[in-house]
Amino acid sequence: MRAVREADHGSARRVFAHGAEITSVLDNHLHTEDELLWPPLRARAPLAHDLINRMENQHRQLADLLDRAAVLFSTWAATPQPTTTEELAAVLTELHAVLTSHLDDEEAHVLPLVPDHLTAAEWAELGKRGTTALPKRRRLVFLGHVLEDATPAEQEAFLAAFPRSASLAYRLYGRPAYRKETTALRTSLASGTRPDA
Ligand SMILES: [Fe+2]
Repeated sequence: MRAVREADHGSARRVFAHGAEITSVLDNHLHTEDELLWPPLRARAPLAHDLINRMENQHRQLADLLDRAAVLFSTWAATPQPTTTEELAAVLTELHAVLTSHLDDEEAHVLPLVPDHLTAAEWAELGKRGTTALPKRRRLVFLGHVLEDATPAEQEAFLAAFPRSASLAYRLYGRPAYRKETTALRTSLASGTRPDA
């Protein structure tokens, strides 16, 4: 956002599209867990009540930040200038901090509860909802974001859990498409050129 020049509406539109996709996946994360994870854990793991309360509070905080970001993002995309950029940057910086802390908390304290308190079918439904947040044509590309910081070994292990046709489709189409559009976005903003120039 800070690399977009004032009134450069073309670059702002591209950043907005990227941000809208990322935040829609986060929004889906919140709704899916609120509906499918906290209720069964609350019912079946009585000792985890305080943990579930903390998770739900974090989700409410994230939902509020997402709402504020959505409004500011639209304003910024229409009028990219230093004031709107810094207002949005402040909210996204806070969102990033709260989200990172929340995901660490979930990984450390919630995931260990899953094997003993959710059925395989319930866990699979959570995963399915996570993948259906995006249109089909975007899922393979978005997987590139999911795996961006993973080591090659972690990527292999992750993809090994997919059907062979899906992991092949990611390697042949998703990953190249992800690299192309992400490189174009970052390079064009850094150099101030159009990605298709
Ligand atoms: Fe969560």
